[in-house]
Amino acid sequence: MTDRSNRQWLLARRPHGMVSRDDFELVETPVPDLADGEYLVRNLYLSFDPTMRGWMEDRESYMPPVALGEVMRCGSVGQVVESKNDAYAPGDIVSGLFGMQEFAVGGRGFMQGTPVAEGTPLTWPLGVTGITGMTAYFGLLELGKPKEGETVLVSGAAGATGSVAAQIAKLKGCRVVGIAGGPEKCAWLVEKAGLDAAIDYKSEDVEERIRALCPNGVDVYFENVGGPILEAALANLALRARIVMCGGISGYNEEKPQPGPSNLMNIVIQRARMEGFIIIDYAARFPEAAEELVKWVQEGKIVHQEDVQEGIENAPETFLRLFRGQNLGKQLLKVADPE
Ligand SMILES: NC(=O)c1ccc[n+]([C@@H]2O[C@H](COP(=O)([O-])OP(=O)(O)OC[C@H]3O[C@@H](n4cnc5c(N)ncnc54)[C@H](OP(=O)(O)O)[C@@H]3O)[C@@H](O)[C@H]2O)c1
Repeated sequence: MTDRSNRQWLLARRPHGMVSRDDFELVETPVPDLADGEYLVRNLYLSFDPTMRGWMEDRESYMPPVALGEVMRCGSVGQVVESKNDAYAPGDIVSGLFGMQEFAVGGRGFMQGTPVAEGTPLTWPLGVTGITGMTAYFGLLELGKPKEGETVLVSGAAGATGSVAAQIAKLKGCRVVGIAGGPEKCAWLVEKAGLDAAIDYKSEDVEERIRALCPNGVDVYFENVGGPILEAALANLALRARIVMCGGISGYNEEKPQPGPSNLMNIVIQRARMEGFIIIDYAARFPEAAEELVKWVQEGKIVHQEDVQEGIENAPETFLRLFRGQNLGKQLLKVADPE
């Protein structure tokens, strides 16, 4: 054992309904010695993603659940501080699923790191040029297939994924309407991200507003939220619309599955297509998307926002911000500075 200690957030119990701070337990353990092939990573920034809520449930999904008593899984960017692996040297910056903790042993289980290229800010590989940016890119372009002049509607539009999907649609020459919670987020969408209009689902009649803002119907609906917002979008489809099923955060903390939309038949009537995806299926094509996303961000064609909280002790509270809608843009937690 080294003399370093490691603060770790473990999954203490399976959540019932809304995830809470008490579903996690903070422990302090010694950093273990490394075996051959392993390397020690100090986490710098943790990434918080709604999908982590699903990993807390005891059910098989596209990844196995986190076991009770195990370190809560999450993405991060970290720095290698010791290494018994020739591919990783102290000082290297890596990203991976290193978990809600200060130090992680790279090369074990899911903790396989990917080197982070120099030249862009450390946080980008967790957001705009990382998983959420990729999700926006492939979901919109491969499933949504927006054409110039079409109308694109995005829910969860001020979030990490939605804000990038909406701006890529603008880059492709579409009219873009975003749906988000609250006047501040809606103002950001129009004034900073350049959308044509935004709907505040907390204070407006969403179905009515979509009808008014998309008089020819919605050609591409990029879905992040589910529930009544999905139903409102389905009520306003254009002929041959494409519905990109990216996520449904409004249901993630529900104990019982939400009722299905009452108007699914509109998919038949409008000859629409609804398709889901999981971004890891596009992993082989991440480099091509990252290159384009970096270029767009550097050229100012895509603006992005990061919400950076601080301190490993605040990890559960930071995670909860996603479900309270407190984050504007990518939710991150800074836990250390690089050396
Ligand atoms: N398919 C994939 O491979 C894939 C990959 C990554 C992400 N996703 C999905 O993409 C979506 C966005 O993820 P993200 O990481 O970019 O998070 P995010 O949008 O940055 O943050 C979550 C946002 O969801 C909204 N929200 C929370 N509870 C809600 C509710 N009950 N009703 C309506 N809106 C609610 C909040 O915004 P408001 O303030 O506007 O309510 C909150 O800021 C999620 O559904 C996620 O599961 C899918």
